[in-house]
Amino acid sequence: MPGDELVEAAIAARARAHAPYSRFKVGAAIRDRDGRIHAGCNVENAAYPEGICAETAALAAMVLAGGEEAVAVVVAGGGGAPVLPCGGCRQRLRELGGPGLAIHAVGEQGQRLASYTLAELLPHAFGPEHLNAKGTT
Ligand code: THU
Repeated sequence: MPGDELVEAAIAARARAHAPYSRFKVGAAIRDRDGRIHAGCNVENAAYPEGICAETAALAAMVLAGGEEAVAVVVAGGGGAPVLPCGGCRQRLRELGGPGLAIHAVGEQGQRLASYTLAELLPHAFGPEHLNAKGTT
């Protein structure tokens, strides 16, 4: 399981969520391979499909900070059921994380609810290696 720092970052990000339509706040925190933490929250939009997920926001923060690979993700949701990345976010995580990327779901108090690898959540994935394009060019 992740260190408390990653869990706390996800919970703090959740508190910043802009979710006036669903009222379903989500925070995500990513640890990159250099040990740095990048967080994001869901940002909904009055034009509903334009909203973005917490995981996507956290990935964008990682890329902006120069992070090149995600090695662990914590997703903090509400309610008792684990909140795990949606299909689109699983594919986005695949772009910047390998099959062994650890994905943990926690509750709003940081209680551990579920843990998976990306390969478990997105088996037989299509990824950058199919395009021979892993890299920064
Ligand atoms: N959401 C996330 O941010 N991450 C997930 O893993 C699941 C769903 C957001 C999208 C939307 O703002 C709200 O939760 C309800 O779907």
